[in-house]
Amino acid sequence: MSATTRILFVDDEPAYCRIFRTRIGADPQFQIETANSGDEALTRLQTFPADIVFADMNMPLMDGIELLTEIKNRYPQIFVIMLTGDDATSQVVKAMKAGAYDYLLKPMDLEMVKRSIQTILDHKAAVQSGRSERCSQGENFCFENIIGQDRKMFEIYEQINQVAQSMATVLITGESGTGKELIAAAIHAKSPRKNKPFIQINCAALAEGLISSELFGHEKGAFTGAITRKKGFFEQATGGTLFLDEIGDISPTTQVSLLRILELGTFQRVGGSETIKADVRLICATNRDLAAATREKLFREDLYYRLNVVSLQAPPLRDRKSDIPLLANYFLERFSTINSKQIEGISRDAMDLLCAYDWPGNCRELANIIEHAVVFCREKSLTRELLPAQFKTTEPSVVPVNNITTPTLAEAEHALIKKALEASNWNLKMAAEALDIARGTLYSKIEKYHLHKPD
Ligand SMILES: Nc1ncnc2c1ncn2[C@@H]1O[C@H](COP(=O)(O)OP(=O)(O)OP(=O)(O)O)[C@@H](O)[C@H]1O
Ligand SMILES: [Mg+2]
Repeated sequence: MSATTRILFVDDEPAYCRIFRTRIGADPQFQIETANSGDEALTRLQTFPADIVFADMNMPLMDGIELLTEIKNRYPQIFVIMLTGDDATSQVVKAMKAGAYDYLLKPMDLEMVKRSIQTILDHKAAVQSGRSERCSQGENFCFENIIGQDRKMFEIYEQINQVAQSMATVLITGESGTGKELIAAAIHAKSPRKNKPFIQINCAALAEGLISSELFGHEKGAFTGAITRKKGFFEQATGGTLFLDEIGDISPTTQVSLLRILELGTFQRVGGSETIKADVRLICATNRDLAAATREKLFREDLYYRLNVVSLQAPPLRDRKSDIPLLANYFLERFSTINSKQIEGISRDAMDLLCAYDWPGNCRELANIIEHAVVFCREKSLTRELLPAQFKTTEPSVVPVNNITTPTLAEAEHALIKKALEASNWNLKMAAEALDIARGTLYSKIEKYHLHKPD
């Protein structure tokens, strides 16, 4: 981050530009440029690498939202703050959805302006502290391998920084593919335990009969097959962090064992009598609604409260659509390198389709789609033809004609899931892999579509 912060102020009213330049520009840490229209602003940005843009919402010709959209497409790293004459909620909501960092009401309160600049600088500093060498992306939007510059993501980065310093148990919730694993890894990496083990366990994959021995270990001869003493995950993670992924999938018996260890802070190996102190920081994640599961008595309420000391919610991608170009380019770079391809970028129409899509599978779905497109790409840029079928539904050719109706998305999904379950003879692991979704997601879809294994 440079010591000088470059700010572009855009307003069709020259008086506002003058006030901003003289009052905010009086502080030597800010370098100010102004523009009286959207067009002029875009021209300025070609030579003036602004960190922050303040843009008036109501301007003739190109209005503030159009300018914001254009800036986010061309320079996703720029923070944009909208200025609005009246508190037109629908406009404000539209601007925030299009990636505005914040909005301020006019007439402009210079103290508020300074405060919003400071918040951005604080956010930038937080991200800066999480820079990772593996991230080649710009400094403003990569925090410990998590990509995102939407305000919701900055809030996540700040929460990670805060909780990393404590020992509190953290529950990360969010839909499938929203980056919960990355968040858990980031909390560990930012914590004082970072040089100790980070042990990650997928609870849904643990065999029911062996779960206690997996978690707590066992003594030699504890049961048939226990030929040596074995340390469990709690012991392996000593001094470090234990990440229990898909915690919503654990059985009632395991819930009791976990509750016990959280209450006592100690455990015993299976077949052992030694009491061992659990020196681990626990992080859990789930894509299920655990609060609802407790109401339905599927998950123990007492355990839920123990796990949910601090909760972090990974936002779905459709709620931070302004991050789509950033993520798409990040995945493009990643998969181009892996596949030794030189692809310079994503065509504008392909990017428009990506931005318009709702991403039920979130970042994982985006990563998969870009990977697929990269593999089949023969040109210098990634074009819309390389996107899969769901992106072609907007084209006239698939609009129902002559009373021939296409299935709805839910019908198609239902049919696909049913087919995958039948093909795998209801082997959930295989079906989830074939569908390229997490097992937890498959469970919830099975519930959603009321699917039942045939007797
Ligand atoms: N913000 C992000 N920046 C970069 N990559 C991301 C981001 N979020 C997710 N990904 C990528 O998307 C994929 C899925 O992420 P992750 O496994 O963390 O999701 P999850 O929330 O744990 O999903 P599930 O509930 O299905 O287990 C990974 O390849 C991850 O690297
Ligand atoms: Mg996961």
